[in-house]
Amino acid sequence: MRKVVQNIAGDFLKILDHDRKDWFSFWQSYKRKHSPIVENYEKRLGLTPSSIEKALHQMTRPMLDKLASYWKAHSRDQKLWSSHVISHRHGLFNLSKEDFTVLISGLLGIRDWVVVQGNKENVILIDIVSLWKRQRIDSLSSAVFQAVAGFRRGITMGDMIGKQNVLDTLKEKLEPLFEQENTEEIMKKVCQTLFEEVPHYDWVGFYLVSGENELTLGPYTGDPTEHVKIPFEKGICGQAASTGTTFLVEDVSKESNYLSCNPKVKSEIVVPIKKDGEVIGELDIDSHTLSAFDEIDKEFLRWICSKLSERIDRRTCF
Ligand code: SME
Repeated sequence: MRKVVQNIAGDFLKILDHDRKDWFSFWQSYKRKHSPIVENYEKRLGLTPSSIEKALHQMTRPMLDKLASYWKAHSRDQKLWSSHVISHRHGLFNLSKEDFTVLISGLLGIRDWVVVQGNKENVILIDIVSLWKRQRIDSLSSAVFQAVAGFRRGITMGDMIGKQNVLDTLKEKLEPLFEQENTEEIMKKVCQTLFEEVPHYDWVGFYLVSGENELTLGPYTGDPTEHVKIPFEKGICGQAASTGTTFLVEDVSKESNYLSCNPKVKSEIVVPIKKDGEVIGELDIDSHTLSAFDEIDKEFLRWICSKLSERIDRRTCF
């Protein structure tokens, strides 16, 4: 498969080998090396020589030094995660069209991502300087995800949106769904929406309490799982069901009572759905990223589960 995500940020960080007064001429040679991409970036942002000088002037050597040492330690992982969030959603992003490449680069710190015309296809430029300045570098893979999603919607530049904002917007989008009568349809749509809109939700599914102390797999989005029936207390799902509490597992490899359905899974969250104090099902999300979930996810997913619980009628659902 083609490499959707490439990384040329190291080329930009060579700016540190030069005296500060020579940074503008370094930029000119960087532009020549990555022609026509950097030139088209300048055009897309309407930059002039003086605005470029100004942007370079706003970068300090200590700032770039810190960025360079961060990048040395994390670039490999960042590139891997970024490739993963895109390729795992091959169909959603229509990768077979091969009309774009993501280029992780160092630019002038103006926008987190900008789409420009490359030699053959569109190039989605991700600027690590901009992400660094806005203290978003740890979320680079989310920036890549949002940039590709934005590009597919016809947006040509933007800044990464934090998780809290993303999930707040999703709440507004999901709210009308819960008016529907058909709970199975609601669950299907929830799975699909979460999988498509949240970069680190790699498997999203519902388990529903069926029979005596047993969970049965309901609607889900992601790879098929062998765990179609799970007894209470077995695995993370069974424990969440038997205790009625949310389980947030940062590293599944450290869990002794865990049911693996895919070796790629690194972290998991399971939120029970309760009706009149009784667990009637749960929402289970797997991520291929370590520690992918936090209190922000927990609050959001609990909101979904409480909305669903208003809709679910135990007798009609299962
Ligand atoms: N990991 C879960 C099993 C369900 S799969 O993740 C879909 C568990 O330990 O209960």
